[in-house]
Amino acid sequence: MGFAELWDSLLPVGRDPGTGGYRRFSFTAADAACREWFCHNALERSLRLQTDRNGNLWAHWDVPVGWPSDSTIATGSHLDSVPDGGAYDGPLGVAAGFAAIDLLRERGFVPARPIAVAAFGEEEGGRFGVACLGSRLLTGVLAPQAARELRDGDGVTLAEAMTGAGLDPARLGAGDELLDSLGAFVELHIEQGRALHGLGAAVGLAEGIWPHGRWRLDFTGRADHAGTTRLPDRRDPMLPYAATVLAARQAAASHAALATFGKVIPEPGGANAICSAVRAWLDARAPDEAALHRMVEQIEAAARQAADGHGVEVGVRLESFTPRVDFDPGLRSRLAGTLAGCGITAPVLPTGAGHDAGILAARLPAAMLFVRNPSGVSHSPAEHADPADCEAGVAALAAVLEELAGR
Ligand code: GLV
Ligand code: MN
Ligand code: MN
Repeated sequence: MGFAELWDSLLPVGRDPGTGGYRRFSFTAADAACREWFCHNALERSLRLQTDRNGNLWAHWDVPVGWPSDSTIATGSHLDSVPDGGAYDGPLGVAAGFAAIDLLRERGFVPARPIAVAAFGEEEGGRFGVACLGSRLLTGVLAPQAARELRDGDGVTLAEAMTGAGLDPARLGAGDELLDSLGAFVELHIEQGRALHGLGAAVGLAEGIWPHGRWRLDFTGRADHAGTTRLPDRRDPMLPYAATVLAARQAAASHAALATFGKVIPEPGGANAICSAVRAWLDARAPDEAALHRMVEQIEAAARQAADGHGVEVGVRLESFTPRVDFDPGLRSRLAGTLAGCGITAPVLPTGAGHDAGILAARLPAAMLFVRNPSGVSHSPAEHADPADCEAGVAALAAVLEELAGR
């Protein structure tokens, strides 16, 4: 099957007709449909399907029976989305994995080492708040009990949601056997910036990932009447929250870093009432960990000072953290050489975006291929890659898999 047909078959799944954005949250109907798409494509290609203990999906192209077993070359990405996300962030890497296998088979390639396509669960943390949930569980950096107790916005635990989706939360935990069977992981992903566009290249290679994390801030004040409460009598949590947003912007600029409040919940949320609480999520990223920690400390100090000034309490809690990732330089130069041999010059780019490859990089050689995104927009329905560039990404991935899994 050609890439275009494969891609088109996934496009309607989980797309909101009003916004055109994707709402593919873990263990929902949209997630089930994405999983079904994955399983269908694996079986259609006679790949061996595996759901690991953390609900991550694997489609294995095994070596012929009787051949010596060697470690698996894995590719793939994720199928979940942020709220109203774009089509490409995640799914492009999974679809490209299947399409690359098709291309290799058309050429008559027989792998000397197994190849696998993976779809990791909840990479975006869109439902339970922890980014790269599936790969963190697999690598053991997230404890299974802590994961089981995570709650979504409606108070549903991860354990309950998994059970509802027919998965057993008691099985969550590190998958050492599976990890030990992998020789390398190469994730293809849409670029979430415009560097490749500026360089006139369809495909790039990742250098590393900025350290980043998410912090939850709870501002607790006192609910009261918007029409009768005198200004000096208010304990309005919205005010220190607003001051913190501005402080975050300033701190980010002063550290050449990034700080974003993209999710905020005023409680109880009446238009004619002062909130009792404001819950807000800070996403912070910087080129190095020292700068990141200094920036977050500065933002936290600003939040406490503003809260004090308004008679409001503030609590700050880390929800997830990813240290700086430097992808394996040996693997990267091998891939660059392979691509150069196919006439592809792949610029090497750093990124501020998190990826499952970054989590796996702590355990095995990992690399990433980026596909050009002309506008650079991501985490938005406007995210886009041209079909020709997607095809170029598939060809590059096929070349890389052929190199790594060939004789
Ligand atoms: C994932 O896309 C992230 O960087 O948050
Ligand atoms: Mn993303
Ligand atoms: Mn992604």
